Amino acid sequence: MKKVFLNYPLVKFIKNFSDLKLIIYYNWERGITKKINKNNRETLIPIARDVIKHAKEGTLRQADEVMKLPSENYTDPDRFEDELNKVIKRVPIILGPSCEIPKPGDFKTLSIAGMSLIVSRDDEGKANALINACSHRGACLVENENGNKRKFTCPYHGWSFSNKGSLIAISAQEDFGEINKNDYGLRTLPVYESAGLIWAIINPKSTIDIQSFLAGYDKMLEIFAFSEWVYVSKRTFSGPNWKIAYDGYLEYYHVPVLHRETFGVDATNRGLYYTWGPHQHIKSPATEKGHVATETLGYMAELIDKPETEWDTETLTYGVWTVFPTTSIASFDAGGRGVLISQILPGESVGESITNQYYIMENPPANPEAAEEQFDFFQQVVMQEDYAMGSSAQPGLKKGGLDHVLFGRNEQGNQHFHKWVDKVMAAKSDDDLNSLFMQEDA
Ligand code: FES
Ligand SMILES: [Fe+2]
Repeated sequence: MKKVFLNYPLVKFIKNFSDLKLIIYYNWERGITKKINKNNRETLIPIARDVIKHAKEGTLRQADEVMKLPSENYTDPDRFEDELNKVIKRVPIILGPSCEIPKPGDFKTLSIAGMSLIVSRDDEGKANALINACSHRGACLVENENGNKRKFTCPYHGWSFSNKGSLIAISAQEDFGEINKNDYGLRTLPVYESAGLIWAIINPKSTIDIQSFLAGYDKMLEIFAFSEWVYVSKRTFSGPNWKIAYDGYLEYYHVPVLHRETFGVDATNRGLYYTWGPHQHIKSPATEKGHVATETLGYMAELIDKPETEWDTETLTYGVWTVFPTTSIASFDAGGRGVLISQILPGESVGESITNQYYIMENPPANPEAAEEQFDFFQQVVMQEDYAMGSSAQPGLKKGGLDHVLFGRNEQGNQHFHKWVDKVMAAKSDDDLNSLFMQEDA
């Protein structure tokens, strides 16, 4: 079993002061609201208190009841199409961490719900999400995964576009004929960059209010200061149905059983959930530490015997942060503080998903080879344990197998997620969705 130990250099105490500044700034700038209260270290302190209380008393906050979910929600191709159209192409989706494209001209390509995108940073430092289809006859402009370009030239007839998407030049324009270039830029998606993460809505005409959707969660995530972190590594691999895959990121119930060989049988199977609209933070009410999952599960052991004023920010942020509907952020230590951002995207069909794992760190790893080894290990755990188990469950969920699956009172995070998927799908318009987000934040 791998052992990962934590240490606490002095710099973390200095960071606590900068967090305090952040609190003063936000309160002054925007007034004291529910969102702002959640937007700082002061929110994490009561959460840590709650986790420690449950850990000491051996208690767990539970959902009201065991929830049944129709099995076909995971296997029905029509339901899957509906989820693409009513969830994935409608609500903001994380495209990746800002530090993946830190400099003007940096770009990457990414496919979501069958739509190929270019995510670029322009000369003003703004992130753009462009549909990767030339406005002449639809050719894919860039096939390669990432790089640095001020303009994209189409490999078919040579039209060129800026990294903001405007059409710069038409080859042999005098032969081609007159068109208004302003009408033929690349299609651009609404983009929102905050807390060192980039979101886009896979619908150029969307009127979703991203702030309402996020319910202050991005302001909470600012405590990590991801915008100053470094991009270290990425892994891409396939898995089972996207919600089967995502379910595994939403509960700890399986950890000491499925991950007995890797995380150990003594890992906790309990999770406490804290929500911001559809988004959730999961922490473990356990007092032990010492194995690989220490940071990921959010143990508060380091804090238990200290006064609250000495609770360090890093430990307060431990646990899993899920960003509805496709992303999970979990801490790790690979010779330095880091997080694994897992982006679980629906694949080509109902039974397939694609996961991008982004490894970002506060500082470059002291030993890059050892860090890569650790990332390989995380990837193997997810592929060979979580996703292999998810794939083995799929045949039994098809018609003629199980009618429904269960989420226990201890699997509150999965219940919250699936209820939100249904609520979003039931909303008939962007206006309905905006009202839903506003209500949930009230
Ligand atoms: S399809 Fe792009 S220039 Fe023709
Ligand atoms: Fe797992």
